[in-house]
Amino acid sequence: RTIFVPRDAAALALGADAVAQAISREAEARGEAVEIVRNGSRGMIWLEPLVEVLDGETRMGFGPMTPDDVPALFDGGFRSHAKALGPVEEIPFFAAQTRLTFARCGLIDPLSLADYEVNDGLSGLRRALAMSPEEITAEVTESGLRGRGGAGFPTGIKWETVRKAPGDRKYIVCNADEGDSGTFADRMLMEGDPFCLIEGMVIAGLGTGADKGYVYLRSEYPHAIATMREAVGLARRAGLLGPSVIDSGRAFEIEIRVGAGAYVCGEETSLLNSLEGKRGVVRAKPPLPALEGFLGRPTVVNNVISLATVPVILDKGAKGFRQLGHNRSHGTIPIQVAGNVKHGGLFETAFGMSLGDLVEKVARGTATGRPVKAVQVGGPLGAYFRPDQFDTPFCYEAFDGEGGLVGHAGIVVFDDTVDMLEQARFAMEFCAIESCGKCTPCRIGAVRGVETLDKIRAGEPGQVELLEDLCETMRGGSLCALGGFTPYPVLSALTRFPDDFATTTEAAE
Ligand code: NAI
Ligand code: SF4
Repeated sequence: RTIFVPRDAAALALGADAVAQAISREAEARGEAVEIVRNGSRGMIWLEPLVEVLDGETRMGFGPMTPDDVPALFDGGFRSHAKALGPVEEIPFFAAQTRLTFARCGLIDPLSLADYEVNDGLSGLRRALAMSPEEITAEVTESGLRGRGGAGFPTGIKWETVRKAPGDRKYIVCNADEGDSGTFADRMLMEGDPFCLIEGMVIAGLGTGADKGYVYLRSEYPHAIATMREAVGLARRAGLLGPSVIDSGRAFEIEIRVGAGAYVCGEETSLLNSLEGKRGVVRAKPPLPALEGFLGRPTVVNNVISLATVPVILDKGAKGFRQLGHNRSHGTIPIQVAGNVKHGGLFETAFGMSLGDLVEKVARGTATGRPVKAVQVGGPLGAYFRPDQFDTPFCYEAFDGEGGLVGHAGIVVFDDTVDMLEQARFAMEFCAIESCGKCTPCRIGAVRGVETLDKIRAGEPGQVELLEDLCETMRGGSLCALGGFTPYPVLSALTRFPDDFATTTEAAE
């Protein structure tokens, strides 16, 4: 019997190890031979630990499992178990997805290269090895893939800039400093399908002429760090990394570097400073990292999901990927659904699904059962949306048009008990704490922003205008997105939920 128990950090936090131990004990007590595979997560976090039992070719799901639920798993009857979910891939949340980047996540043993290859792994790289660098970058450009870290810059154009840039050495830097609140796609991918990221980085190296890659991974992700380190070691031993990638004569090596916990080190230039051993302070652009990046050399800085999406593009072809999506947002996007929701998790779908469908059909509304009041899209720098904006399609253009951003595609749902003035204060406070201190609008502005919101709370007159003015200064005068985008949550809270700001003023009056 083969039983899958996730090793993903979310599943572990919910007791997956205890469930795995209970399965071993029970099998031993019954004298049954059981193979326990520690897979990644399928992304249905409300069902974790989600145990899967192989029934012929079908993976039958059970969850959320506790050790007490284990004995009944051995009593037979896949459908009679109290936690039976039926075939995992038929669970509506899963069945409604278009899984490209996350196709293998939760399906395979993340540290088995054999499993990886059997499930289409390395086909993209094998194709890339037969192509010229120009052809590789052209294929990525043609796919329409845009940076999944948040800014949405065309990945192929970035690669082409690096390919053409003069330099004795070039680098691929994977930004795995996933810091946005409510996001976990990078972590889930690295823990569930690490070879996919490695394959994407090798292809990026082939396309640009880089022979060295770094994964800059946040220290708060110990399981992802361990999995990536092990996967890189395995890839090296298998000849996937090293002086001759799959005996092609082309070299590529990867090193894992761990950050020290600063949100701003997810900004590419402070990430590069940190990688060079310097303080994580933002650099002015230009020069772009694509021309002068790591150690002053041409460098591709791409998010985990951007790089991990490349193998599937190379494998299946750019056209199919480009055909998916909405407006100029092509392909699929792994949306991370979090906050006050019934069904939280990772939902990969083509761009274009409406925000309302995501909240009501995918997330099934709030966990508290109360009405939704606000949805923050795009992390702590993203705008708050009201239910009357729920027809906004999930794509870069529509969110730009609504004064917001897709960001790293995290959505956080709040019910009607949320105090939006407090949320605006939180945004300013977050910026004040995480500011790198390089520019004045952000370093000083965020501190003044917290004070101004406290004065609004206390009912002092003239403070709302002051806050608006301050936001304008931060938006126009900050050097990077941290100071420049903090006005999005603040102003969207103020303009879309004016009652939360007005009532306190009136109460004080
Ligand atoms: P940006 O728009 O300045 O740059 C985007 C990317 O394109 C960069 O890598 C830049 O170097 C590159 N680029 C721009 N012009 C280029 C050219 N002509 N040739 C080659 N490359 C070029 O945006 P930035 O500041 O890098 O990122 C801001 C975004 O980061 C925000 O939209 C926000 O959503 C996101 N973000 C993501 C977080 C996460 O945890 N993933 C956390 C915080 C913010
Ligand atoms: Fe640093 Fe803030 Fe200025 Fe960005 S906006 S460079 S984080 S001080």
